[in-house]
Amino acid sequence: MTRILDEDANSGFGTRAIHAGQRPDPLSGAIMTPIYTTSTYVQEGLGDNKGYEYARGKNPTREALERNVAALEGATHGFAFSSGMGCLDSLMKLFKAGDHVVCGENVYGGTFRLFDRILRHFGLEFAFVDSRDPQRVADACGPNTRLILIETPTNPLIRLTDLTAVGEIAKRANALFIVDNTFATPFFQQPLQHGADVVYHSTTKYLNGHSDMIGGIAVTTNDEIAERLQFIQNAAGAVPGPFDSWLALRGTKTLHLRMPAHDRNGRALAAHLAGKLGHDNVIYPGLESHPQHDLAKRQMKGFGGMISVELGTKERANEVLRRLRVFSLAESLGGVESLASHPASMTHASVPVDRRASLGITEGLVRLSCGVEDLDDLLSDVDQAFA
Ligand SMILES: Cc1ncc(COP(=O)(O)O)c(C=O)c1O
Repeated sequence: MTRILDEDANSGFGTRAIHAGQRPDPLSGAIMTPIYTTSTYVQEGLGDNKGYEYARGKNPTREALERNVAALEGATHGFAFSSGMGCLDSLMKLFKAGDHVVCGENVYGGTFRLFDRILRHFGLEFAFVDSRDPQRVADACGPNTRLILIETPTNPLIRLTDLTAVGEIAKRANALFIVDNTFATPFFQQPLQHGADVVYHSTTKYLNGHSDMIGGIAVTTNDEIAERLQFIQNAAGAVPGPFDSWLALRGTKTLHLRMPAHDRNGRALAAHLAGKLGHDNVIYPGLESHPQHDLAKRQMKGFGGMISVELGTKERANEVLRRLRVFSLAESLGGVESLASHPASMTHASVPVDRRASLGITEGLVRLSCGVEDLDDLLSDVDQAFA
């Protein structure tokens, strides 16, 4: 089972980002972890191998990534997957028919789709609640609740959940607490310190940071869950290839440099847009007008680069999206380049219309992922597009 290298646990975040899980290649001294493109490993005799038997079970490049992200999240074990959804699907194999799941109502559209359109048919039961209010999470828990799963901040409404409060509720309910930390990254928020049992990511986003691969990763400090996850990872096989693992690993080396830059641009653009469009129409946890600004300051070290803007109608949203020049209209987020998207027709199209409406994912909502380009260029771009 992949375990962090103990000496990595004590260094600072930037040092961990660059070095954790990686040691010079024993064969050549190569400082960068090689991309081990192999499906299998030669064995000296029966049961006599170097710890690697078949690459679905273990691959040294993937192992370096798993150790690296686990060390960044303050975890001891990491398990990488072929996508964020593949990761979540594998996590859900910890549960069985009849188990009840309390899930934040505003999660990535694909998370809702996996739960509502696939896993419900396997006998798992789901309650979707507004997890901004911990009491609603507590009220939704019943005798067969085995999991509380939340995303904070959420995609795309940038809503927060009080991690410590929900961590305590999960303990009382004897349920696992799993957190999607994709938006904040471990640089700004470490849910394991607030009582989460497992943290997972779409590594496609900020951890990779360069929009050049798809991946997911789950980390934990719990040895028993780690044993089970290792079994699931090998048995179900939703593993990433070595090249994608390497791209993610190269990305995490600069996480501590990229995140403050996303945060700087995010803060400045959110304030600028709020001045232009009114505070009610700009959702960003760093704005004092965000209803959960105090919680954001308490449990996050920064606010990141994700902003949502309410433009009233789909036509107006489309007009702005067409005009943007530095921001590109595309799904996804968290890369060095700025992206803009229309959640209702893109990332959250799989959420039924009435559900989207009740959540507040309107036809006029535009989501911005602020990259790390020069701020002046981003400001000019939104000025001309939102004119
Ligand atoms: C918050 C969040 N979690 C999970 C996912 C799913 O990740 P992937 O696209 O890598 O499968 C996404 C994708 O947009 C996301 O935004």
